[in-house]
Amino acid sequence: MTIDIEEPISRVDLSSAFEDIARQRRSVYFYLDQDVPGHLLERALQLAVLAPSHHHTRPWRFTVFHGSARAELAAAYEKAAVRIGWHPGRARCRAFDAPAMVVIGCVPDVSHPRVRPLEEEFATAAATQNLMLALTSMQLSCALSSSPLQLSDEVEQAAGIEGGRVVGVLQIGYRDPERELFKRPQPGTAGVVRWR
Ligand SMILES: Cc1cc2nc3c(=O)[nH]c(=O)nc-3n(C[C@H](O)[C@H](O)[C@H](O)COP(=O)(O)O)c2cc1C
Repeated sequence: MTIDIEEPISRVDLSSAFEDIARQRRSVYFYLDQDVPGHLLERALQLAVLAPSHHHTRPWRFTVFHGSARAELAAAYEKAAVRIGWHPGRARCRAFDAPAMVVIGCVPDVSHPRVRPLEEEFATAAATQNLMLALTSMQLSCALSSSPLQLSDEVEQAAGIEGGRVVGVLQIGYRDPERELFKRPQPGTAGVVRWR
């Protein structure tokens, strides 16, 4: 079976609400100077944790740096930048790229003999996608970053991720409509899906 990506929704068996949200989600790097209501972040996180995990290990961790709390993240970025030889001031600014920054961690449940570490990262990725789609459904935008700055021990410490590691930092805000989205290749199933 093949589904034409341009085919009208009425002719394919998908929920139109989900299709809209999945299509609308894009990585956004420029935001309006407008705060994100905390209750929306909380709601989106409640939806994120509906993701599946093998044996209910729930390996995902989210640490929210919202508004003035981003100063703590900025200090961690600055410290990490000094250690890895990046520009400390520029690194510091990255913590203020959006009104809310969420450090996403994965803490594998190593006590369970049937759960492999890869599965824990897989589950964390599922929760992250839930989070991104939930935010999109609320007219919020986001982008995941995973440079050495975001994945640093300093960020891990600031976010209180113990026994695991940071997988990325999600910046969240209202998109600045004046700034264009980055181009991306036309998404499609060609070459990545096989039917037998
Ligand atoms: C695991 C992961 C890590 C990513 N890390 C970065 C990053 O460090 N910097 C960045 O600009 N974008 C990062 N991205 C965003 C991708 O570049 C982006 O999703 C891709 O270009 C497709 O664009 P779209 O999200 O608008 O569909 C990351 C995405 C994922 C899934």
